[in-house]
Amino acid sequence: MEPIRVAVTGAAGAIGYALVPRIACGAVFGPDRPVILQLLELTPVLSALEGVRMELEDCAPSTLAGIECTDKAEEAFDRAQAIFLVGAKPRGKGQERKDLIRDNAGIFKVQGKAINDAASRDARVIVVGNPCNTNCLIAMSHAPNIPAANWSAMVRLDQNRAKAQLANKTSRPVSDVKKMAIWGNHSATQYPSVQHATIGGRAVRDVVTDKEWLDESFIKTVQQRGKAIIDARGASSATSAANAAIDHMREWFLGTPNGDWSSIGVPSDGFYDVPEGLVCGVPTVCRGDGTYDIIRDLELDDFGRPLFAKTVKELEEERDAVRDLLGS
Ligand code: NAD
Ligand code: LMR
Repeated sequence: MEPIRVAVTGAAGAIGYALVPRIACGAVFGPDRPVILQLLELTPVLSALEGVRMELEDCAPSTLAGIECTDKAEEAFDRAQAIFLVGAKPRGKGQERKDLIRDNAGIFKVQGKAINDAASRDARVIVVGNPCNTNCLIAMSHAPNIPAANWSAMVRLDQNRAKAQLANKTSRPVSDVKKMAIWGNHSATQYPSVQHATIGGRAVRDVVTDKEWLDESFIKTVQQRGKAIIDARGASSATSAANAAIDHMREWFLGTPNGDWSSIGVPSDGFYDVPEGLVCGVPTVCRGDGTYDIIRDLELDDFGRPLFAKTVKELEEERDAVRDLLGS
């Protein structure tokens, strides 16, 4: 089988270190698809990246067909078919993710252009670096050669967190929880919606009758989980973030499991009255050929509508804060 070229930025960082071995070992593209890893780091971090390269070699995965390490974006994205944009500053205690906008936005302008010039025209891109929805908007605005549908931001960690909370609450396996939708921004305004979700095939609200828990603490826990991890670890999530990036890309390339949804931050084409272009979390079903269908026919209830409106408003504010960095 032809190897797939996979670019990862920030590959020697905390998420990168957890992510690249799993990609090398087949966690995203399967046990039969060789991968060539194209790893990007800042120049002063190239020595650490060399250590990562040695460790990858020492894993000796049968799926690893090559490793290239570089501090040049065009080299990292050269003919890349799958791109993980991880390299960016993480927030610290007391910060919101959007406080990183001006620090990180420039990275995504430069890398969007480099992807446009160097990557395969059918590259699929996931933006992990925060604030990921708006960074994705910036990068794609500089990459007219790459179709809008090939750009995405990661809200999958929120979907996984929400499923885990529901499974814990009901003492059911996580695999019983389906159709967990994350609407809007990967931020404290996101709306993790159980309206259409099921546990063991039954509506969540029929299984979890504790309305206060569902409407208040469940939503708050998911919205604030990133902060809780920073408070506990002194550093932002890394293992679970890498795992979510793997889930996101695996389902995008290989398909959403039957009867479930993949929540993805995708560029709006006007769906659910979200202003066109904003990168907004929505439930999708990935077909297994690198395309997805947005679930378009849902009607949010009176509880969910204002929550969705609030998170979309925040996405508009973030876009307005980076207008000077957007391409045409
Ligand atoms: P980290 O500081 O440990 O690693 C980031 C790495 O990126 C560093 O090694 C740094 O040298 C590198 N880097 C910085 N600028 C770069 C550039 N222009 N090109 C290439 N590499 C560059 O941080 P981390 O914990 O790995 O987190 C990375 C980002 O992911 C942060 O912005 C964080 O907030 C975000 N994040 C997002 C989610 C999500 O769910 N979307 C979850 C967790 C973390
Ligand atoms: C997370 O959700 O864990 C990440 O976005 C990191 C953060 O800043 O919260």
